Amino acid sequence: MNIQQFREDLLNWFVEEQRDLPWRKDNQPYKVWVSEIMLQQTRVDTVIPYFERFMEEFPTMEEFAAADEEAVLKIWEGLGYYSRVRNLHSAVKEVVEKYNGIVPDTPKEISKLKGVGPYTAGAILSIAYGKPEPAVDGNVMRVLSRILLIEADIAKPSTRKIFEAAVRTLIDQSNPSYFNQALMELGALICTPTSPACLLCPVREHCQAYANGKEQVLPVKTRK
Ligand code: ADE
Repeated sequence: MNIQQFREDLLNWFVEEQRDLPWRKDNQPYKVWVSEIMLQQTRVDTVIPYFERFMEEFPTMEEFAAADEEAVLKIWEGLGYYSRVRNLHSAVKEVVEKYNGIVPDTPKEISKLKGVGPYTAGAILSIAYGKPEPAVDGNVMRVLSRILLIEADIAKPSTRKIFEAAVRTLIDQSNPSYFNQALMELGALICTPTSPACLLCPVREHCQAYANGKEQVLPVKTRK
């Protein structure tokens, strides 16, 4: 693959076609963090009003850190998976107390925060801080399994590392934020789980699954 051309095609498409989402208005680490935690088990359309209410109620990490548990659970009510917000609350308190309210900007430090796994760490580091770190979730694995014809089983936890290595070779060093978000956006809008819209795909020319008629059989995912 011509990696340079792939990056250019992907980023040009993202610039033109990205959805106007409230967490894309600015790239403050706190906002990226909250949105990524909300988006982990919940669809974008559902998350939007929750994210907006959350930022109205707790515009800063300091205000969120100072909130009592009842207020915190209340704002999450209906989103489910309440351990997400409990972990987020304790991690934000830690950032306020231990890091002076600055979200750490290294993989090592950020990964120590409660509820911040490799995906969330990579999303914050790339989107908020512009660091060339992979942010690999199920969507990104689906997209890259097709583009690169990777047949590893995405149901296996160890497979994420294969995709992280792939992102490290592909990522645009000059705009890691857009690169990672473009992969997510491509997975959401074009490279969907069933019936991907290959004819509209900006990187179809670079896609090995498309070239081999395999877009419908990738990614490989066994039942856990
Ligand atoms: N899914 C996960 N993270 C996302 C983001 N930042 N934008 C849109 N969809 C997402």
